[in-house]
Amino acid sequence: MCGIVGYIGKRDALGILMDGLHRLEYRGYDSAGVAVVDGDLTVTRASGKIAELEKKVSQITHHGTTGIAHTRWATHGPPVEKNAHPHRDCSGRLAIVHNGIIENHAELRRDLQAKGHVISSETDSEILAHLIENEMKTQGDLSTALRFAVRRVRGTYGVAVVSMDEPGTICVARLGSPIVIGVGDGEMFVASDASAIMRYTTRVIYLDDGEMATLEAGNYRIRSLDNLPVAKEITEIEWSEEDVQKNGQPHFMLKEMLEQSEVLRNTMRGRLDADNGTAILGGLKDASERLRELDRITIVACGSAYYAGLVGKYMLEEYAGISVTVELASEFRYRKPVLTNTTAVIAVSQSGETADTLAAVKEAKMKGILTLGIVNTVGSTIARETDFGVYNHAGPEIGVASTKAFISQCVVFALLTLFLGRQRQLSLVMGKRIVEELKRLPELVDRILDGRELVRDVAEKYSDVTSMIFLGRKYCSPIAYEGALKLKEITYIHAEGYAAGEMKHGPIALVCPELPSVVLCPKDSVYEKTKSNIEELRARGGKIIAVTTEENDEVHEFAEDVIEIPKTLEMLTPILAVIPLQFFSYYTSVKKGIDPDKPRNLAKSVTVE
Ligand code: AGP
Repeated sequence: MCGIVGYIGKRDALGILMDGLHRLEYRGYDSAGVAVVDGDLTVTRASGKIAELEKKVSQITHHGTTGIAHTRWATHGPPVEKNAHPHRDCSGRLAIVHNGIIENHAELRRDLQAKGHVISSETDSEILAHLIENEMKTQGDLSTALRFAVRRVRGTYGVAVVSMDEPGTICVARLGSPIVIGVGDGEMFVASDASAIMRYTTRVIYLDDGEMATLEAGNYRIRSLDNLPVAKEITEIEWSEEDVQKNGQPHFMLKEMLEQSEVLRNTMRGRLDADNGTAILGGLKDASERLRELDRITIVACGSAYYAGLVGKYMLEEYAGISVTVELASEFRYRKPVLTNTTAVIAVSQSGETADTLAAVKEAKMKGILTLGIVNTVGSTIARETDFGVYNHAGPEIGVASTKAFISQCVVFALLTLFLGRQRQLSLVMGKRIVEELKRLPELVDRILDGRELVRDVAEKYSDVTSMIFLGRKYCSPIAYEGALKLKEITYIHAEGYAAGEMKHGPIALVCPELPSVVLCPKDSVYEKTKSNIEELRARGGKIIAVTTEENDEVHEFAEDVIEIPKTLEMLTPILAVIPLQFFSYYTSVKKGIDPDKPRNLAKSVTVE
């Protein structure tokens, strides 16, 4: 959740660090700080937005070429200056920035205080600075001191440390929180994700858990926590810098919604085999025979990724004939799930760093279960922890509310359904039919994007409501849940997503003229049933916003507002039906004066429990 940036080289560190913080602001932004080794060690911190830090940094007169910086999303201690990173040790000669949670911070704090350390903040992270200081007394160099210090930690960390005593060095270590190293020409960079440094270098190295690195201006060494050298390959970032810009739109979220047809083309590029009515998934090639033996799939994910998993469940059961359960990763990791050697666990994650989902993967691997990843962020931890996987190729998703990644995840499930289905009973004819319809999807998405002004009118009409219900059946029930989540997270309006058939089992007691319902009612196999649910709502004065298939004229008789989507296969309809709901929430958020990219209390990647 926090952002880390570091630089060591020939240029002034401060400018590079502040630029990096701005690019990481979406990850967590309630305080920030920088530390620069400049003959001295200058640490500058501020609570609030990066702009507050900018004001202080502008007063700095002496500069250096080594430094680290941090944006914080509070986990321990309120977002005030004293809790902001970087944290110093007692001597004031070293400073650290940390992303993660130190679970045994209380016992470490007591132990350090008993040794005379004065710990000034309420954070768990500051402990690291004092642990390293303590180890420096016996180990002598920063890298060894860091290695011994993190060995005492239980929890997760992505940590960077600088010291006045070693001005030409930055040491970093990672366990559970991402660390990427940027390889420049006579300079090195470090960050919690590549978007912070990609304008300076696209050559990066992703540290794995239990690895640490010592960076110097023109050199780097990577070792394990057992102090064994580790060979790592340099990866070329596939995203260009403008990918992470807004392309002239007011918000990342709008930019990312508007690129959804291109995203689907990228997700499917090279993966549709029209002749054989199947999908070509290079990341699963070596798992093909193990996948043929599967008789169960367990999908683990959080938030929107979980709802994409629910869509995948319907697809895989209907067309691949495989039994599927979808589990909230935060629950799965503490349950005793019954898994067999013909089960596969599929982790779905845009960031590839969600702590709960990563833990669920590790739990499955502990049991020897085959793990697959559907991940958007190349080189992310979940992508590297799972045995095999499929990248979304949706490009970086900066807006906190997931949009393009969500529909890309649904399309990957359609591709996976084709692949697994054609290994089983899915016919060539039906496989071809699905392939052809997938090819049409981007143009259908463009038609919905072109009609977004109508959605904005509807959204603005309801922007003052205090609560809403989203309803759907079968393939559209996950979209009801996703639509409610979108509204909650970027407009702060209470919303509930429900399987439409469930309303009569209690929630219909809520229905009244002040409670509008968004009902997903495309002309699909359960349309008549959903229509009955709508009548039940209307009988109690409920107002209906219907999302339905084009040319479904009768719907105007029972809905106050109608939003149309193009007709497609029932299994692909959720991919279209969700888009108006994304725009509905976006325009409501903007109407209410909220920044949809940075909703309160949320961060883009939840890398803590
Ligand atoms: C979705 O709009 C939310 N931002 C959140 O629910 C998100 O989907 C969830 O935290 C999972 O993130 P991931 O896909 O990066 O694992």
